[in-house]
Amino acid sequence: MENTDIKNIQWFPGHMTKTRRMIQANLSLVDAVAEILDARTPLSSRNPEMDRLTAGKPRIILLNKCDVADEKTTEKWVAYFKKKGFAALPVDCKKGTGLKNFMPVLRNTVLKELVEKLANKGMAGRPLRIMVVGIPNVGKSSFINRFSGKRAANVEDRPGVTRTKQWVKIDETAEMLDMPGVLWPKFEDREVAVKLAFTGAIRDGVLDIETLAMMLLEKLSKLYPDALRDRYKIEIDDGDTGLLLLEKVGRKRGMLVSGGEIDTERAAITVIDEFRGGKLGRISLESPDGV
Ligand code: G4P
Repeated sequence: MENTDIKNIQWFPGHMTKTRRMIQANLSLVDAVAEILDARTPLSSRNPEMDRLTAGKPRIILLNKCDVADEKTTEKWVAYFKKKGFAALPVDCKKGTGLKNFMPVLRNTVLKELVEKLANKGMAGRPLRIMVVGIPNVGKSSFINRFSGKRAANVEDRPGVTRTKQWVKIDETAEMLDMPGVLWPKFEDREVAVKLAFTGAIRDGVLDIETLAMMLLEKLSKLYPDALRDRYKIEIDDGDTGLLLLEKVGRKRGMLVSGGEIDTERAAITVIDEFRGGKLGRISLESPDGV
């Protein structure tokens, strides 16, 4: 991945500082932190400072978009995070799968001690409060909207747009703090940026689409060769480069430009769109094996 042309990624250190400060200032108002990650890229879709920022608060990790991630790998991630002392739950905030487990896990595991303490003090009615955090595109709004039952105002998290924090009721026993602001992933790590570009978490244009598709095909030919064979009906040979694979896809799909050459740009757009749309099957780009 050395020759990747990662164009200038726009990010705003000042804005992030503000978000960081806001998280720390509001941490005392909540009982737990719900950190949303992309189940396909649980490490790359984390904010690298999250452990430090929320140190001392009980945490539940939601492995979102589990509908498009490899089920077995997601199970391994759940075990991985549990070993690190966090409760972890696979969820699909688009359809709502897994969300019914959220409150029970919070109540019976993550905040068990607090719940018992409140009950002993005769304060069992005091709602539990949870701060929701995650990098852009990971599914925070989808998660919150699932509980609030309405579409929250679609205000972009960008500098200059002021959004205040808001409390969203989960049920009679709990509420969530929807924090404004942006927490970025570890963009400066090339591998991280590339994986986030594959899933669409980083806006298109950050990486050239053909480069992106070639890198994805090369990766998938190693991780999920059968998914490529099944979808594109191509042969995969040892040592096939990304370009070769992209040409195979283009040829098979009849994507040609005048003169009979393969339209690799069209093939690239198809591969990326189909991967993001889950058409290649359930695929995880990171596994805890060897981490
Ligand atoms: P954010 O607030 O963290 O920025 O993320 P948001 O909820 O806006 O979700 C970002 C994209 O991810 C949305 O897609 C959303 O539908 C999708 N998404 C969220 N949760 C899930 C999930 O569990 N599974 C899948 N497959 N997708 C999920 P979009 O393309 O921006 O919009 P649209 O497809 O909903 O129109």
